[in-house]
Amino acid sequence: MEERKGFRSYFGFLMAAVGSAVGLGNIWGFPFKMGKGGGFAFLLIYLVLAAVCGAVVMLGELALGRKTGQNAVTAYRAVSSRFGWVGALAPVTAMLILSFYSALGGYCIRYLVLNVGCLFGTEWGANGLSGATVFAEATADGGMAVVYGMIFMALTAVIVALGVRGGIERFCSVGMPLLMAMLAVIILRACTLPGAAAGLRFMFVPDFTPLREDFMGVLRTAGGQMFFSLSLAAGVMITYGSYTEKKQHLARSAVTIVLCDTAVGLLAGMAVLPAAFALGAPESAMQGPALLFITLQDVFSGMGQMGFVFGIIFYGLVILAALASSVSMLEVPVAYWTDRQRQKGDKKRRRWPAVLCLTVLSGALCAITCADGLGGNGVWVPFQRFFAGAEKIPAFCDCWLDFLDMLSEGLLMPLGALLTCVMIGWVIKPETIRAEVEQEDNRFKTYRFYRICVRYIAPAVIALILWGQIRAFFG
Ligand code: PHE
Repeated sequence: MEERKGFRSYFGFLMAAVGSAVGLGNIWGFPFKMGKGGGFAFLLIYLVLAAVCGAVVMLGELALGRKTGQNAVTAYRAVSSRFGWVGALAPVTAMLILSFYSALGGYCIRYLVLNVGCLFGTEWGANGLSGATVFAEATADGGMAVVYGMIFMALTAVIVALGVRGGIERFCSVGMPLLMAMLAVIILRACTLPGAAAGLRFMFVPDFTPLREDFMGVLRTAGGQMFFSLSLAAGVMITYGSYTEKKQHLARSAVTIVLCDTAVGLLAGMAVLPAAFALGAPESAMQGPALLFITLQDVFSGMGQMGFVFGIIFYGLVILAALASSVSMLEVPVAYWTDRQRQKGDKKRRRWPAVLCLTVLSGALCAITCADGLGGNGVWVPFQRFFAGAEKIPAFCDCWLDFLDMLSEGLLMPLGALLTCVMIGWVIKPETIRAEVEQEDNRFKTYRFYRICVRYIAPAVIALILWGQIRAFFG
């Protein structure tokens, strides 16, 4: 059988994995969820969850991938006959996320174009309109949203089609350092705006009231955010793990990825929230799309010509982050497809037919999400009626984007993570992971802590998160 090519270097692997983790979830989800969950109190819960669940599941996935040298679907089958089916959840989760993620990525491209237009005074600029009007127009124009969503999907497809080394590794090795540099510029600008300090206070001054009032709610939000932000239970870390070499220390890699991801979440908060407060729109800090697409655009528009340069840098960095994540989602089913071809001894193995088919599939869902315009265009209504029998579903989400998000981040991810922990902790046993980490004379110093987490703590905590989600789901 032909050799299966992985990442060329450790740096490439790390940039790809961190690139997958760092995305819209950090730049936009993390800051506002942190603000809502009581600032430092939320951060504390998030850090504990990341240590006892996030890093544990991450290491399990990386090790599973590298041990089997296979894609997510067959990796589970290779180690356990009883849990083999769990692997099939991964590409489903990844494709669902990819579809709404690309819709949001499309909006970011639209805003990048808008700021370029503003800078050069062309008619596709904002033409002096407020962020709210621009956003209302962007969402109401379903056709245009679909076009931008498809551009984002096409970019994702091209990078993945270029291969693990020539596409994903190369893109992330250049893109991630560039992203950090751009983020530094935006943080400097945001934190020196008059009134910015209130934004930092909003993030870092602990307020324990949300914890006291609704502990389960905060746990649920922090838990969902953690799985999503760390790209867990979607097959990504298994797939990327299968592309790394035996000499790499997997436990250290897992911790590094978690730390980088959390750090970028905090840094993104320091870029976004001070700007929202400086503009005098603190309430937008609590909202999803409004923060990124209304408030920040107003901040840039209010700075004169230079503001549009910052706008271009900001939306450019969001697009970079989102692309490094979306390619990892698409790679999950593509890896399954190409591994099958390899197994069958297919000589004319090519990636692009797999990429094309899967992009079309996910693109169809993406087009529906874009056309729905975050619920404003009524594409969700027929489904809402359809689900009306299951009363609570329409109450829990009122647009396609929320529905897909709830299904993937809310249910499939915690479920997949829980089953993975149970499988590792009780069926294939944590020793299997230890043996994989300790390849080529590496030492797994925190093994005892890992063992307790994967057998008891992580399954209990994830089950609690999942239970919270299901309860919220059915009210
Ligand atoms: N981690 C990415 C983010 O924070 C999203 C993602 C989820 C990527 C699942 C891959 C798989 O935006």
